Amino acid sequence: MCGIVGYVGSAGPSGRPLDVALEGLRRLEYRGYDSAGVALVVPGGELAVAKKAGKLANLVEELDAHPLPPATAAIGHTRWATHGGPTDVNAHPHVSGRLALIHNGIVENYAALKAELLAEGVEFLSETDTEVVAHLVSRAYDATKDLTAALAGVARRLEGTFTLLVVHADVPDTVVGARHDSPLVVGLGDGENFLGSDVAAFIGSTRQALELGQDQVVTITPTSVTVTDLDGTPVQAAPYTVDWDISAAEKGGFRSFMDKEINDQPQAVADTLLGRLDLAGHLVLDEMRIGETVLRSVDKIVVVACGTAAYAGHVAKYAVEHWCRIPVEVELAHEFRYRDPVVDERTLVVAISQSGETMDTLMALRHAKEQGATTLAIVNTHGSTIPREADAVLYTHAGPEIAVASTKAFLAQITAAYLLGLYLAELRGNKFPDEVAATLSELREMPGKIQQVLDRSERVREIARWMSDTQSVLFLGRHVGYPVALEGALKLKELAYIHAEGFAAGELKHGPIALIEPGQPVFVVVPSPRGRNSLHSKVVSNIQEIRARGARTLVVAEDGDDAVVPYADEVFFVPQSSTLLAPLLAVVPLQVFASELAHAKGLDVDQPRNLAKSVTVE
Ligand code: G6P
Repeated sequence: MCGIVGYVGSAGPSGRPLDVALEGLRRLEYRGYDSAGVALVVPGGELAVAKKAGKLANLVEELDAHPLPPATAAIGHTRWATHGGPTDVNAHPHVSGRLALIHNGIVENYAALKAELLAEGVEFLSETDTEVVAHLVSRAYDATKDLTAALAGVARRLEGTFTLLVVHADVPDTVVGARHDSPLVVGLGDGENFLGSDVAAFIGSTRQALELGQDQVVTITPTSVTVTDLDGTPVQAAPYTVDWDISAAEKGGFRSFMDKEINDQPQAVADTLLGRLDLAGHLVLDEMRIGETVLRSVDKIVVVACGTAAYAGHVAKYAVEHWCRIPVEVELAHEFRYRDPVVDERTLVVAISQSGETMDTLMALRHAKEQGATTLAIVNTHGSTIPREADAVLYTHAGPEIAVASTKAFLAQITAAYLLGLYLAELRGNKFPDEVAATLSELREMPGKIQQVLDRSERVREIARWMSDTQSVLFLGRHVGYPVALEGALKLKELAYIHAEGFAAGELKHGPIALIEPGQPVFVVVPSPRGRNSLHSKVVSNIQEIRARGARTLVVAEDGDDAVVPYADEVFFVPQSSTLLAPLLAVVPLQVFASELAHAKGLDVDQPRNLAKSVTVE
């Protein structure tokens, strides 16, 4: 959702507050790009505000045409619209008197608060929920002359989700922030301090950060950071060092973050596996803070997640059930949360999320905790909310993922889920340490094999370019190939705006085959002929069935699988692997296909329309 940045320290090493704010927004733009805006506190006691609908580039153009004066503090916002369309007027910051405010989230009781203000004669310029908060904080400040207390007091009245940052012309060296269910981290500098929706906002200046908890208020000046709860009681925030640097957040010579992140995948998987085995060959999951007795008593696992992360959960189901003999359910977090699910003390609920901030997933996690379940997070972003609230966390080490549609985080999530499955299997006695070590050693070969898939991807790109005017693509898979098919379809929808659907190949005859007409492109993910032979031959039969009805078949199969060749218009071969690990390879050509086709259509693959990377509203 929206990206938020705050900065104080005009004499600090990072330079002009405006430049720091714009650089932060550039790095956070993946969170939303309906509009962008900044507010500066100008010495002498004035505010300067600029905001523009559309991408950040529009704001930069506006600032070039109408430069703002030098400042002591800045806040900046990049928006994913919720209340009020993506216009200049609805763009943040919202100004009330001598105060400017930005917001990520939704204020659910804004209508009642607005009615109260209207009755008092307050005039509104925008249709947003945020402007209500700006007026409330401005009035509270006028009454108290204490910006921190004013924001905290208003925050206590708000229902919904929010991160709020506020500056006031009376307090030129200060930015105050508050959070409830939306992300906010503090960056610690030398003679300067930062606030951001995530550390990407300030990673170019500092890797030292502070985690803020739920319902906390932070006040930064160039030389101090003060954290309290909403009642003003001081709170000790936990410091941490960000384990990646600015180069990880740059395109590194690739034409898009998406290309770079697809290319990063061997490293993402390797890093997620790093250091997980001790000298005796036992799997070590350092962050696993759940006792062994509890894990042994688990009788059901429920994975909750959204989007691509949910498909990683689908892959995990096949592996974990096979290795651990524990039933695994996978459910979209927003469906789980509101259907009164059956979970209890013996249920392990696993929340998978790249951002660690997806509101639907967070709410599902909280609901599971309330029901007494043990909770574990598989998350990529340190300092985010989901791992803070879960009983344990297994971090994926994919590095920052900037492109809105997920790629390398998906492979890292699958890898982390395999690690969890192997850990449970060893702990519960389903597997001996040597079997775990053997599977891990096979897993360690996967980065090299993913690299081979990438090295062979030119043909996929060529086909994608030829197909740039395609209207619809279907994806079929079976067993672990089924979630791969679903993810292939999702990538194409997200990146190329093409109608795409994934099906379980076995379901074909029960309906989807009616969609096949001459020329219909269909990707088929074929299981290894060396594994469950019956499945291989069944999927090959499916290819024949759709081909007989005119489909154009694009087949992903493993090296040496000559049986598919007669029925495929194109075969994309991937290296051989065991059945359960194959998704790490089979999905890569589908990612490359979607990305290349979107490039060929001239689309912005990093920031697809209507989407946001971190969906922090329900
Ligand atoms: C959004 C993104 C998807 C992502 C999903 C879940 O919809 O566009 O790419 O898979 O959120 O995000 P998470 O951060 O929880 O993995």
